[in-house]
Order: sequence, then C-alpha cells, then structure tokens
Amino acid sequence: MSRQLFVTTALPYANGKFHIGHIMEYIQADIWVRFQRMQGNHVNFVGADDAHGAPIMIAAEKAGLSPQQFVANIAAGRKEYLDGFHIEFDNWSSTDSPENHALAQQIYRDLKTNDLIETRTIEQFFDPDKNMFLPDRYIKGECPKCASKDQYGDNCENCGAVYAPTDLINPYSALSGATPVLKSSEHFFFKLSDQRCVDFLESWTQDGRLQPEVANKVKEWFSVRTNPDGSQSEGLGDWDISRDAPYFGIQIPDAPGKYFYVWLDAPVGYLASLKNLLEKRGENFDAYMALPGLEQHHFIGKDIVTFHTLFWPAMLKFSGRKTPDKIHVHGFLTVNNGEKMSKSRGTGLDPLKYLSLGMNPEWLRYYLAAKLNAKNEDIDFNADDFMARVNSDLIGKYINIASRAAGFIAKRFAGKLGEVSADGSSLLAALRDQKDNIEQLYESRELAKALRETMLLTDRVNAYVDQNKPWELAKQPGMDARLQDVCTVCIEAFRILSIYLKPVLPALVLQVEHFIKTRPLSFSDVASSLGKDHLIGDYKHLMQRVTPEQLEALFEPPAQAESALEAIDSIATVPGGEEIAPTITIDDFAKIDLRIAKIVNCEAVEGSVKLLRLTLDVGEGRMRNVFSGIASAYKPEDLIGKHTVMVANLAPRKMKFGISEGMVLAASHADAKAQPGIYVLKPLPGAMAGMRIG
Ligand code: MSP
Ligand code: ZN
Repeated sequence: MSRQLFVTTALPYANGKFHIGHIMEYIQADIWVRFQRMQGNHVNFVGADDAHGAPIMIAAEKAGLSPQQFVANIAAGRKEYLDGFHIEFDNWSSTDSPENHALAQQIYRDLKTNDLIETRTIEQFFDPDKNMFLPDRYIKGECPKCASKDQYGDNCENCGAVYAPTDLINPYSALSGATPVLKSSEHFFFKLSDQRCVDFLESWTQDGRLQPEVANKVKEWFSVRTNPDGSQSEGLGDWDISRDAPYFGIQIPDAPGKYFYVWLDAPVGYLASLKNLLEKRGENFDAYMALPGLEQHHFIGKDIVTFHTLFWPAMLKFSGRKTPDKIHVHGFLTVNNGEKMSKSRGTGLDPLKYLSLGMNPEWLRYYLAAKLNAKNEDIDFNADDFMARVNSDLIGKYINIASRAAGFIAKRFAGKLGEVSADGSSLLAALRDQKDNIEQLYESRELAKALRETMLLTDRVNAYVDQNKPWELAKQPGMDARLQDVCTVCIEAFRILSIYLKPVLPALVLQVEHFIKTRPLSFSDVASSLGKDHLIGDYKHLMQRVTPEQLEALFEPPAQAESALEAIDSIATVPGGEEIAPTITIDDFAKIDLRIAKIVNCEAVEGSVKLLRLTLDVGEGRMRNVFSGIASAYKPEDLIGKHTVMVANLAPRKMKFGISEGMVLAASHADAKAQPGIYVLKPLPGAMAGMRIG
C-alpha cells in the first residue's frame, strides 16, 4: 500500500537570502522525500516564504520598497539555491498569498466560534516618532539587573536576565531613538490555557509523534517552573496573536487596524502552499486533507519547537482540522566550529559561492547526510572532514568500483555483462540483504547510519576486487571468462549501491542509470539484476575530487572585509590580485566556445557611463549585439574595425539597454581601485572572424 505524505520544511523569513543552515534543512527533507518516492509513496513537498512581520516591514522601508516588492525580490532569488543543490520542492509559495489570507482568517473564525479567542487591553511601548507600537526587539535600554547599556527589551546579553521591556532603565526606540511611551491597546489572545487545549496538548505531545528529547522538553512547559531569573511560570499561558497597524500581515476579520501576529499565519502557509499546488493541478484541497491515512510531516530546527508543538497543533485541532503526524526537529549547523559563522568576520559558508566555485552540490548533500541523525543535535561543517568524506568515501570507495570495472567490460567484452559465479553471487546477496535495514534507517532519518552501512558494503566490494585483481586477470591468457565475471559483479554491485545512495545523490545516480543503461532505479530494484548479456554504456568519469584550493577559496573572507594592509599585501604577492582559480579539466574548458570576433561597430550607450555597445561579426552571417563595461578605457573609434576574442556561447543576458549576446574578453586587476585599467584582448595578425580558440 503506498502512503500519502504531505511534507514541509520551515518557511524562511523573506528578509534575507538563504544561508547554509536553511540549505541543510532542505537537503535533509529532500533526501527523505526522495527516499519516500523511491518506495513508491506519494508525496507533496512544499515550501514558501514567510513574508509577514515587523522586521520585514522595517527592512522594506529602509530599502525604499513596499513590503510586497521587497519580499518579491527575495523570492526571485530562491530558485538558484534550490536548483543548485537539487532540492526539489513541488511548490514554493508565500504567506502573503490569497490562499493564506483566506485560510488564516477562516482558522481564526473557527477558533472564535469555538470560544478560544478573547480580547484584553494591554499596555505596550509606543514610538511617538514612528507612530507605532514597538516589538520587544526594537526597544533597548539598560539592564534592570546589571545596568549594562544597549540591551534588548526581552533579555540581557551581559547577565542573562529575562525581563519585560517595561523593566528597562532609560528605554529608547531602536528605530528612531525616541523615548517610548506606554500606551494601551486591545489585543487578541488564543486561549491556550483553556483546559481543552491543555488536555489535548498534554496527550498530543506525548503520544510518540515527537522525538523523545523533544517530547521531554515540551513536557516542562505544562508544569509550573522556575525561570532563569528566578521568577515562576505557570504552565501554558494564553498567546497574544494580534498586532496593531502599521503592520505587514493579514487583517483580523471584523477588527479594523488589527493584524495577525506573523507566527499565527506563518504555519498556515504550509496549508496555503499545498492548496495553491493542488489547485494548479486541478485537485481538491479539502478532499486531499480528508484522505484517510494522509500523513503530515514538518521538518524544522530546534529554535521553533514551541510554535510547532503547541500553537500550531492547537490551532488546527480546535478549528476542526487535521493535526501533524510528525514534527522532525534538527539541530543547528555550524561551520568550522562556529568560528566563521560570525557576521563581522565574513560569510561562514556561502551556498552560492560554493556553487560558483564549481563545487559539486552532491558533495555537500553527501557530507551533510553523513553527519545527520534523527536527533536534534547540532552538527559542524569541518573543511578537512568534508574533504576526507568526499574524496575517501564517496569517490575512493563508491565511484571507484565502477571505474575499476567498466573499462574492461567496454574494451574486452564490447560492453556486455557476463555470467556471475558463486563467490560473486554471494557477495551480491550480502549487499541485497541490507535493503530492509537501509530502508529502515532512511525512514527514521538516521542518514549517517544509512550511509555508514552503505560504505561498509563498498568496502566488501573493494575487497573482492583486490582479491581478484581484474588488472592481472586481464593479462593472463585464458582468464577472459573470469575477468568478465569479476567485472560483472562489480557493475551489479555498483547498481545496488547506487540505489542505496540515490536519495542523497540524485543527479549522480541519474548519470549512473544512463551509464549502466537501466530505467530509473528504486528500492524494489535491489532484488533484480542487469543480467548476463546486458549492454552497458561507456564509462565517463562520474565525479571529481574536492581540492584544498576550492575549500580555501570557499572560506576566503570577501575582499572588502580585508584590511587595507592585507589588500596591499595581496597585490604584491598574488598575480593580478587574485588566486588562480581551481583546476578544471579539458572537458570543462571545451564548454566555453571562444571565437575571434570583428568589431564592426562600436558606440557609446546613452544613460550609461560604463558601457559600450559593440556590434560583432563571428562569421555567422548575422551580427551580435554585446554590451561591455569598457567605456572608461576606450573610445568607440579606437575599437571599430579591430579583431578581439569573445565568448560565443554565453547565454544571452537581458540588460537595461537591450540584450547582450556574448562577452568580449578583457584583462584587469582584481582590485580595480588600487590598479585601474582594462585591456581588451586582440589576436596577432591573421586571425579571422569566426575562428575558434582552443
Ligand atoms: N519564519 C520562521 C519559520 C516559520 S515556519 C511556519 C523562521 N525562519 S528562519 O528563516 O529563521 O528559519 C527557517 C529554518 O531554518 C528554521 O527551521 C530554522 O531552525 C532553520 N535554521 C536557521 N539557522 C540554522 C542553522 N544554522 N542550522 C540549521 N538550521 C537552521 O524561523
Ligand atoms: Zn544584565
């Protein structure tokens, strides 16, 4: 029986780009989803931007944009990351969508009908300059306990005291600097302290759907406890779900000027994104949610457990909806022991930089999977460890199996697999025996263990190769059949191992499927084999190794962050002001089609001081239009009639002034301020338009 699964990751705030912690969460969930699909289960995997709230409203204002425009800009950048790391959401939406407005308001109405909403007048700090109520984190002042200055409104970073913003000494607004005034306002509360909620949550959180360590932590919130500052908390309190205008959010029905607090509508965004997906497909949302046996899974980090284990299930339950079946909580990712995570010192691990350095996304997927387990423990990205796991395990143990056998099959047996004899069969049987175990490990999110079991199997296969030495068999007369037998075992083993690794390495295994000529592999294929006389394709190297240079470049702080002294230093020691890029293969180079181009015309671009418009002939019988940032170095008449070098197969790029259909090559120093100058390349005499450079 195939399962129906509705899977989400936390919805990231739309006030910034993805960082490596987000990517880790998505990779963890994506691996699990791919595994489920390989089991024949049906999955809807959705995400969305968490668009609302005061911080986003304030950031948009600073940027001079409407919050909608600000959030749209962030959303436009998401795909590059997701595609780049093979993270395959079925849908990506926003909590500012019409679906979410409607659903959040409906859930609120249902809670109200159920007598779980109440209003109370509270006093809050108000910024008289900005004319708005201030969220706690925008109020600063002196700590009431230790008097240290510039502390936030909720707790002191110096002594750890927890307090209310009204306890601060000399409070001020972090937005305007004005002294905030106390003002009263009517707020809406979700009555979480209602006995119905307490009873429900006490059993819902303890019935096995949460990880044991999470369930234990949640249990504490139901009892009277002592806070870090010595005060007492009394179990579940009511939850303030409203904010006053101006606020970027969803209006509370029948309450002008009142908006839902962002955390009320954020998780509703899970349902809204799903609804948006299903309606695009012409399916019915209510019918889907009512499917018997539908499982709802949320992947989240350990910092947002309260929202997902108390507020969210209570909102769903008491509005008459299905509650989540599992909340999968992960820990935090740090980079190189956290030292590089500090904002002031640069980037940590920038996911886009990782990709732009040509680093393979599946190295990161493999590495993170090799560290993740079912607990909410933190994990650390360590550069040395990363290189060892990828190069020694992934490539040295797994990829190696194919590369050791494929050449012989191609050259000596015209690509044909042979008969497998008893010793090979028993090795393959041992590999197949691990199927149930590995499936169980994926299902329970024990990714590190699943990969460890798989790597133990690769050890056995490599030991078999070392014992049988195909490279020696190949030299011995009369050993053809044995050579084909041994290499066939390797390819059959490689196929089984590829199934076990496919949730983690989807793009690589796609290449494997082409190479061994098989249909898309799933776990049910473990039992079968390619079989005698099956023809495999030519082996092309499947994966490069990580180089120390790549890792060094990855953690190199951005140029601007360097001190002036270091900048001068690097000019003195590094050619052209930047390190030589990581090594590429000749195949990589061949992808770039460089051609001699004749500059038929060149003119200034009105409205741009940097650009020149070039009309280039590369011998195609048509002209190319190319914009180049060389106006500071050349006058148009200097260039007309000259030959130069262009990248002829660069994707056309839409610019403000028109479409640019390629790029002209020019030399410059990495630090243009320290060493200005741009030099367009020119071939020696004789080169003609259209000639390829290589
Ligand atoms: N917008 C809320 C979530 C709303 S869900 C209805 C939010 N956004 S967030 O952008 O701050 O975080 C999104 C997810 O990324 C959370 O699950 C969070 O735990 C996770 N991570 C943020 N930093 C992380 C690491 N350094 N490591 C791993 N995950 C981290 O919270
Ligand atoms: Zn203090």
